[in-house]
Amino acid sequence: MNLAKNKLIVALDVPTVDEARKVFHLLRASTGMFKIGSQLFTAAGPSIVREIVGAGAEVFLDLKFHDIPNTVAAASAEAVRLGVSLFNIHAAGGSEMMRRAAEATADTAARENLLRPRLLAVTVLTSANEKALSEMGINAAPETQVLRLAALAASCGVDGVVASGHEIEALRRTIQSKDFLVVTPGVRLKKSANALAQADDQKRVMTPLEAVRAGADHIVMGRQIVGADDPVAAVQSVLAEIEGA
Ligand code: C5P
Repeated sequence: MNLAKNKLIVALDVPTVDEARKVFHLLRASTGMFKIGSQLFTAAGPSIVREIVGAGAEVFLDLKFHDIPNTVAAASAEAVRLGVSLFNIHAAGGSEMMRRAAEATADTAARENLLRPRLLAVTVLTSANEKALSEMGINAAPETQVLRLAALAASCGVDGVVASGHEIEALRRTIQSKDFLVVTPGVRLKKSANALAQADDQKRVMTPLEAVRAGADHIVMGRQIVGADDPVAAVQSVLAEIEGA
């Protein structure tokens, strides 16, 4: 169970500290890591991150930094000081921004004797398809763009990527380092994967088992767990599916 538990990251996509605390306390025993993204961070600020880290849990700070290199480097240093285990930047911010983020992360951790979080790059959001890319002037298939940005991220000292399950195999072929992390959102429980894939905004979905079999180091799940009538039972279903791997 522990292996499966360590693979699961639950997205605390809720609007208030009270709701975040409620979900955290319900799920902390069965969940490896909690993701705090722009919704909760904007509503509750860094204190909710400190609270969860202080309670002994791991946090993935999902703020997808994308700014000038100096600003992203400074924000990365602050992510280290918050004590998170994982945080991310947008690969589309370019190589200098990514390199400066990786350097600031390593330097701050070494200088201040803190844990060095692993830094992930977001390549192409899993909500984006070829049409969405083309509207932004990127005339490439999502997978081509994912691989291009992932290779660039790896060359800048970034530890891994956030990527759809469908891209993992090609990513593993493109990036040789076994330590390169792949974190996969867009995961849907088996019984609902087909129906939800159509209705939801995640255009490229996989089940937990498929994602882990494909080589995801971690899977990220939000609404299907946090929005479930029984979040504990939902996590147990996910862990049971992963154990099948
Ligand atoms: O509710 P759902 O399971 O779709 O939540 C997925 C989570 O993963 C959300 O918090 C979303 O912000 C995040 N995410 C994503 N695609 C990425 C990066 C992060 O869906 N490429």
